[in-house]
Amino acid sequence: MKKTLLLAFVLQMAHLSFAQVKVSIDTDLGEHTISKHIYGHFSEHLGRCIYDGFYVGENSNIPNINGMRTDIIDAFKRLKIPNLRWPGGCFADTYHWKDGIGPKENRPSIVNTHWGGVTEDNSFGSHEFMELCRQLGTEPYISGNVGSGTVQEMSDWVQYMNFKGDSPMSKLRAENGHEEPFKVKYWGIGNETWGCGGNMTAEYYANIYRQYATYVNSTWDPKERLFKIASGASDGDYHWTEVLMRDIPLRMLDGVGVHHYSVFDWRDKGPDVDFTDSQYFATMNTAMEMEEIVRGHETIMDKYDPQKRVAMMVDEWGGWYNVSQGTNPGFLYQQNTMRDAMLAAATLNIFNNHADRIRWANLAQAVNVLQAVILTEGAKMILTPTFHVMEMYVPHHEAKLLPTHFKSPDFTMEGTGKFGGKLPAITISSSKGADGKLFVSICNIALKDSHNLEIDLRGGEFAKVSGKILASAKVNDYNGFDTPNKVVPKAFNGAKIMKNKVSLTIPPTSVITLTIE
Ligand code: AHR
Repeated sequence: MKKTLLLAFVLQMAHLSFAQVKVSIDTDLGEHTISKHIYGHFSEHLGRCIYDGFYVGENSNIPNINGMRTDIIDAFKRLKIPNLRWPGGCFADTYHWKDGIGPKENRPSIVNTHWGGVTEDNSFGSHEFMELCRQLGTEPYISGNVGSGTVQEMSDWVQYMNFKGDSPMSKLRAENGHEEPFKVKYWGIGNETWGCGGNMTAEYYANIYRQYATYVNSTWDPKERLFKIASGASDGDYHWTEVLMRDIPLRMLDGVGVHHYSVFDWRDKGPDVDFTDSQYFATMNTAMEMEEIVRGHETIMDKYDPQKRVAMMVDEWGGWYNVSQGTNPGFLYQQNTMRDAMLAAATLNIFNNHADRIRWANLAQAVNVLQAVILTEGAKMILTPTFHVMEMYVPHHEAKLLPTHFKSPDFTMEGTGKFGGKLPAITISSSKGADGKLFVSICNIALKDSHNLEIDLRGGEFAKVSGKILASAKVNDYNGFDTPNKVVPKAFNGAKIMKNKVSLTIPPTSVITLTIE
């Protein structure tokens, strides 16, 4: 009997490897600041993100202020949401902003042709979006309509939102109840102009961008200069970035987008909850492609802009699966499991580590759509595992990125194509806050292996460590409307510090954040 137990133990130990990962952090060599805007969100007119999501209307029984759901606003405040992108996405290039201003009863409706073909009443427009941003205390990022709009229409929108002097557009804004300019700084010139935003070539769009950027202005005051963002490449389309950087004068360009969704097969994206281990691996595989994609675009941007003035903005990213069973296929509603927590934590570590060029990102999407941080059902609301990762990472906002060196062990899977091979199991990013405290986020995407880490803190004296952990029994675990607290972060007391060395064991499929002082 004893022998059997011993054998079982040995077999278990062989299965669960406890490799030692040596990490070193240069605590005095921080150079670049991690922009808080890497932690931005995206709210498209899609499914139940705006209507029946953020916006329930002034007459709803669900507690709201001016139509915006109070519980959602409070939750986003916990994330210190730095920016919100609106109105799309593909919707942006069908949207005519003048239909969304003035008395609501006079607003014409719009058919949301990209997303479910539903008719929207335009009760949520520019003023409502600005009210939402006001309540959230966040920076608005508006994507203008290039695909089906005109230069004049977008120019008028910028004037309407921002012009402080006397003009037809500023008068109209005042008539609609807002005398003061809204001062929207961040403007996207189209969205996915290689696809739903007009199916343009890079060369054609570069010219169109120059034309739009010439007229998208609202002030003579250089302090109030707008921040103009070019619709960026899909995944590893480096030609797109090359052409934009080459053909658009840098003085007209402040940010270049990049979109990358973690989808292992666009024809069948796999289930949101009941995925297999190999589907999990495939999702992580596409998520980890972010590193290579970012490096590829970075190399091109460095060639044309060695001063790194132009920001790389990953203004759409996240996991995309088949919609939850029984939901409208056009609404892109999916549950959010520990797989999404892994995806978010690993991706945010990648973004942090490229803080010198990536200065903005938008997770798709904020509420009830794709990798949402919040899901709602009537008056119920849940915070997803992705929400918890975003909240755990808040101390990275505006902190100094610290050089972190280590070699990750492999996470391996039997299988072909995206479904098998090896991936780095561990990603880490480290930063130092204004208070001098270190903050380290570690993600282990491996399904079975725990890893022992020994972190050498170079260039400083540290004596205290505390931590948090997000983990769950199964990677398919999620927070349901009846089990909202199944996956929540807990205190992590497993890290020990001695003589500037921190040691800990990170369990499989978990995220640990450490504060070291
Ligand atoms: O986020 C959903 C869609 O994905 C967006 O509308 C579009 O920009 C992208 O293709």
